[in-house]
Amino acid sequence: MRLRLLGLSAAGFVAGGLVGLMVIPGALDRVLAPAQVMSVGKAAVGGPFTLTDHTGRRVTDKDFRGQYMLVYFGFTFCPDVCPSGLQAISATLDQLGPKAEKITPVFISVDPERDTPEQLALYVSSFHPRLVGLTGSPEEIQSVAKAYRVYYNKVKDEKSTAEYTIDHTSIIYLMDPKGEFVTHFTHATPVATMAEKLEKVL
Ligand code: NI
Repeated sequence: MRLRLLGLSAAGFVAGGLVGLMVIPGALDRVLAPAQVMSVGKAAVGGPFTLTDHTGRRVTDKDFRGQYMLVYFGFTFCPDVCPSGLQAISATLDQLGPKAEKITPVFISVDPERDTPEQLALYVSSFHPRLVGLTGSPEEIQSVAKAYRVYYNKVKDEKSTAEYTIDHTSIIYLMDPKGEFVTHFTHATPVATMAEKLEKVL
């Protein structure tokens, strides 16, 4: 059941409203499927947001209309799961070639205290030239995380000098050009699988 979450189709995911939870050994990221889905068959994931991008510009969800978005929540201090999720997104976009221009990859920080636009700018550029980093006030992050059914929780990190780490949902959401949820992947979805699914959608 836990591992099967990775192979779930969007239809099964939406119909089942399945609550999958996978704790990755050695990391605090979780693969947590959004539990709340609407009975009409469309997942209640996503919605309006106002945040600050890695260049310091204020942006809203409307700025991304007309583009598919691959949305991933995490934080720049994350030791391994966030980097692997972002690497998977970058590799998938590279594999899609020119078609990838229809997709804007977006990384939303769940650590607004440490993830300033400057910190995000350094981080996103190490993954993909088109990766957009978003941060905001704690309230703005709380609001966008709620809209995407993303769980995050600050936990004390005894083993690290970083003082705290953040336990968070590790799901990659595909949103359509109208800002509506299409399907989801995880940081562990193979690049070939993600690319193949995106090929069909684009
Ligand atoms: Ni992470």
